[in-house]
Amino acid sequence: MSSAIPAHDHLFAPLQQRSITLPNRIVCSPMCQYSSTDGFASEWHFVHLGSRAIGGAGLVITEAAAVSPEGRISPQDLGIWKDEHIQPLARITAFLREQGSVPGIQLAHAGRKASMAVPWEGQHTVSPSEGGWENVVGPSAERYSEHYSVPHELDRTGMDKVVADFAAAAQRAVKAGFLLAEVHAAHGYLAHEFLSPLSNKRTDEYGGSLVNRARFPLEIIRAVRSSFPEDLPVWVRLSVTDWVEGGLSVDDAVEFAKLVKAEGIDLIDVSSGGNDPRQQIPVGPGYQVAFAERIRHEVGIATGAVGMITGPAQADQIIRTGQADLVLLARELLRDPYWPIHAADALHHPASWPKQYERGALGKVERRQALARS
Ligand SMILES: Cc1cc2nc3c(=O)[nH]c(=O)nc-3n(C[C@H](O)[C@H](O)[C@H](O)COP(=O)(O)O)c2cc1C
Repeated sequence: MSSAIPAHDHLFAPLQQRSITLPNRIVCSPMCQYSSTDGFASEWHFVHLGSRAIGGAGLVITEAAAVSPEGRISPQDLGIWKDEHIQPLARITAFLREQGSVPGIQLAHAGRKASMAVPWEGQHTVSPSEGGWENVVGPSAERYSEHYSVPHELDRTGMDKVVADFAAAAQRAVKAGFLLAEVHAAHGYLAHEFLSPLSNKRTDEYGGSLVNRARFPLEIIRAVRSSFPEDLPVWVRLSVTDWVEGGLSVDDAVEFAKLVKAEGIDLIDVSSGGNDPRQQIPVGPGYQVAFAERIRHEVGIATGAVGMITGPAQADQIIRTGQADLVLLARELLRDPYWPIHAADALHHPASWPKQYERGALGKVERRQALARS
């Protein structure tokens, strides 16, 4: 795509991605809910994701869905490693589509950060007797921190399995009705672990130079792209810096993004961090937006901005000034699932509540008028 900004681009302008039209630029960012048993989507997922669609997000992306049982962060993660997972996911995608949202899925392998307790139980590994597993894998036998397992270094057979798992998961995602897939290559999970020199200490063709470290993440990305229909978009979420001296830098990420673009990926979702506990992140409003802007302009690929985007004017400005093509919101959509409708109102864009809510949601004046009309 060209990095020239069409004059009409704003938060409520539709965005075309292959055959899909996102109705606006607001995306519900992936958020682990740790509410599954054996990887199955639950009623919690139906309500959690459904609420964000009712609230007007143009695209709702599931949390990290594990492509294999050993690729889960915790035993309670969502999964898409067997055909039985399809049906409850299909129920969710049908509902999201009914609300006018595009359903997306994040495909993930947790790598060395697997077999952990859910966050509200504290940071510790889970033993096989408590539902955890021993085959935690990574690029090298280097653990994330003393609270995590020491991973087994993946050999070629193990890598082939991971690639095949991503491909099979992408095919199941299509059957479940997802119209967009995002490869999780951020936050210190498997693909990011290969990309970062802090976690990848390999001496074979998958370690050392950036080109070598990029090789396996690109195999995963290629497998997902070729397993997903031509007319549907595939995105990649990247951590573009490790925020640690000697770690992955934004310059590296720009080079990697060029390789990702060459694989036919439609958008890079620009995040950061998560691969080293020494990270020092200068968290503040829109703290990752400049990275999305740099990749958009230097690589010439669509980008999504994420991270402390909370204000309607802030979000609108990111799109209007061409810093990114869309915004992803996580915590703000937990605080206010109706944020997109409220944002439309604040930006004087016609806000549309679902018909079921119209009367109750109208302001006092319009409500009196509506009641008078009825
Ligand atoms: C509860 C929770 C769960 C999350 N789970 C995921 C996840 O599954 N995959 C992912 O890429 N990011 C995950 N994130 C990160 C968010 O998608 C987002 O990038 C981050 O929270 C910054 O955006 P925010 O400031 O709008 O919250 C999670 C964040 C939260 C708060």
